[in-house]
Amino acid sequence: MPRPAAKKTTRKTTRSAKRATASEAVARTPRKLTKPQLIAELNKDLAKEFAALIQYVQHASALTGPQYGAIQAELVVHSNEEHMHAISLSDQIDFLGGVPAVDVGDIHISPDSKIMLEQDLDGELDAISRYKERVAQAEMLQEYGLRRALEDILIVEEEHARDLQDALEL
Ligand SMILES: [Fe+2]
Ligand SMILES: [Fe+2]
Repeated sequence: MPRPAAKKTTRKTTRSAKRATASEAVARTPRKLTKPQLIAELNKDLAKEFAALIQYVQHASALTGPQYGAIQAELVVHSNEEHMHAISLSDQIDFLGGVPAVDVGDIHISPDSKIMLEQDLDGELDAISRYKERVAQAEMLQEYGLRRALEDILIVEEEHARDLQDALEL
């Protein structure tokens, strides 16, 4: 379900990151925060992982056009990897003493296959930017196990963005 306050920030960020490549996705200046604030941010990341996994399931089925055959199979792989990210974040939130949330972020669909892939790429560039910030925040709080888990997720999000950029011939 749409949550207007959160959506405004997300839209602004994804729009400004749209032309960036995976490796150039702009990291936000890391905000210094407390452990409870970090847990709250990780729960927002978790909601976006749940949304991404659902969005990829829908897009993998709904995508049409012979030129998109290879990426269609790749979107199923992405969906499974977003699921793994959700499990990893949920565990990390629990390890930090928080309660993993079950919210689902905004999901974007379209009747147009190219727009679907652009929606997926926007999500990945936003994820790369968020996880770069989150890695720095974990480092600031000396949560090195969390930092490692976030770096593993970040590497996969960068691969996802490159897959989509290739499919979109960017
Ligand atoms: Fe993910
Ligand atoms: Fe991803």
